[in-house]
Amino acid sequence: MTKTACVTGGNGYIASALIKMLLEKGYAVKTTVRNPDDMEKNSHFKGLQELGPLSVFRADLDEEGSFDDAIAGCDYAFLVAAPVNLMAEDPEVHNKPVTTNLRCHIPSHIRDGTDRSSHRPGGTACPRCSWRRRRPGSRAEHGISLVTVCPVITAGAAPATRVRTSVIDSLSLLSGDEKGLAVLKGIERTSGAVQLVHVDDLCRAELFVAEEAAAAGRYLCSGLNTTVVELARFLSRKYPQYNVKTDFTDDDQLLEKPRVVLSSAKLAREGFEFRYTTLDEIYDDVVEYGKALGILPY
Ligand SMILES: NC(=O)c1ccc[n+]([C@@H]2O[C@H](COP(=O)([O-])OP(=O)(O)OC[C@H]3O[C@@H](n4cnc5c(N)ncnc54)[C@H](OP(=O)(O)O)[C@@H]3O)[C@@H](O)[C@H]2O)c1
Repeated sequence: MTKTACVTGGNGYIASALIKMLLEKGYAVKTTVRNPDDMEKNSHFKGLQELGPLSVFRADLDEEGSFDDAIAGCDYAFLVAAPVNLMAEDPEVHNKPVTTNLRCHIPSHIRDGTDRSSHRPGGTACPRCSWRRRRPGSRAEHGISLVTVCPVITAGAAPATRVRTSVIDSLSLLSGDEKGLAVLKGIERTSGAVQLVHVDDLCRAELFVAEEAAAAGRYLCSGLNTTVVELARFLSRKYPQYNVKTDFTDDDQLLEKPRVVLSSAKLAREGFEFRYTTLDEIYDDVVEYGKALGILPY
């Protein structure tokens, strides 16, 4: 029987990739956006609708109950929509450890347990509310269980035709985008490494924990740990045409090698296998994607 999944924020980078994967796997998908008429943000839905049944709903995290219709009757709800600002000027945000930031920005997955008719899914639709109300992995209430995937900097191509977040940062050494590079440096300073994951592995991990009955709690999803210096050397070798800066002697806070390794051991223990574990693999398609989006010159 066809399963139905809701993915919130379908015009976002990660959500658009997840919708594509779900449709390709035979799911019916319901997605939400704040403005279904905004064709600049939603143009990729047309191509996705050719892959399978995809319906679009209007919903806003600031409007109580606005996700009810989209989530009603779904087997899974992937709560990916969230305001994202990796370049926050607020110093308090900068000083928080990365794990705290990730906790604030988690895409969460509500797995519908048994009784679909008796719960009101909209009551837990907001990731921020869900997080506050229930400890991750705690016993399901109203037949709903919550599993959380915390991704690191996500790279790779997706259907979304406008991106604002990690694609810009991951390409910053190639594009010369100083703000994006500052994000990478900030992450390295606060967490001891630059962690990367390919969007395809992230979506596979999200689906894995949704479908895996035993999955519970929080899962870190990181394909590899590197540093700005290592990344710059790799990109400079692989894409000489972009004149990547590799001399960072003016920045004595940057690391040669990761000081801390963020591990996805919990995912691996439960049987998940990453497909993209080298810089070569993670950067495989994001450069072409960056060119298509106008982030990088051809
Ligand atoms: N990309 C990463 O490397 C990374 C790393 C760690 C965690 N995450 C988390 O993963 C999730 C998705 O990230 P992303 O990179 O895909 O971000 P994104 O491309 O900016 O997507 C975010 C989506 O959330 C929607 N949204 C924002 N405010 C909303 C609101 N008030 N109500 C409803 N929808 C709202 C946006 O829709 P509009 O177009 O209507 O604004 C957009 O579709 C976020 O929770 C993020 O914090 C991402």
